[in-house]
Amino acid sequence: MKPVAPDGPEVPAVDAPAVNDALWREELSFREEDERYVSRRQFGKFLTLTSLAMFAGNVWLLLRSMMRKDDTELPETVVARIDEVAPGGVKVFNYPGPDDPCLLVRPDAETFVAYDQKCTHLSCAVVYAPRRDVLECPCHHGFFSVRTGQVLAGPPPRPLPRIRLVRRGDHIVAVGKVDGPGDEST
Ligand code: FES
Repeated sequence: MKPVAPDGPEVPAVDAPAVNDALWREELSFREEDERYVSRRQFGKFLTLTSLAMFAGNVWLLLRSMMRKDDTELPETVVARIDEVAPGGVKVFNYPGPDDPCLLVRPDAETFVAYDQKCTHLSCAVVYAPRRDVLECPCHHGFFSVRTGQVLAGPPPRPLPRIRLVRRGDHIVAVGKVDGPGDEST
């Protein structure tokens, strides 16, 4: 039914939504089908950013491996007297800095080993469990070999960093720090 003006002639019907829709399409040059395609420029930008991110990652890995080499040149620090830790005993000490807790363990009369005390999973403090002769992380039940620092079970992704030790007279001395499992004991 056509609308009728109150006091005048008939007014022609206007399809208002259709007019508005056409105007909207004309004024905004947005085409849905074009949006599905990535332009050459966008693709080039994506490739450039991805390459830069990979380059930055490789530089970071290189720097990290160079810093690891420097770890072997850390200062020498007396950790304990030999008779201070009985077989089956432990001592907590800091190395190389005052905020780097480490664990010296004497699993038997002839062997001393030391590791960074921070678990390689989420940095909880590991403890020595003499009955099982392992280093244990109580947070998520991570277990490490006390002889090598290697992961035996649980979520830790890497071995415990090992503190290099030497005997000097009656003392055990820390002389460096190495990542990865060790095969030496003092
Ligand atoms: S923090 Fe050590 S196992 Fe999770």
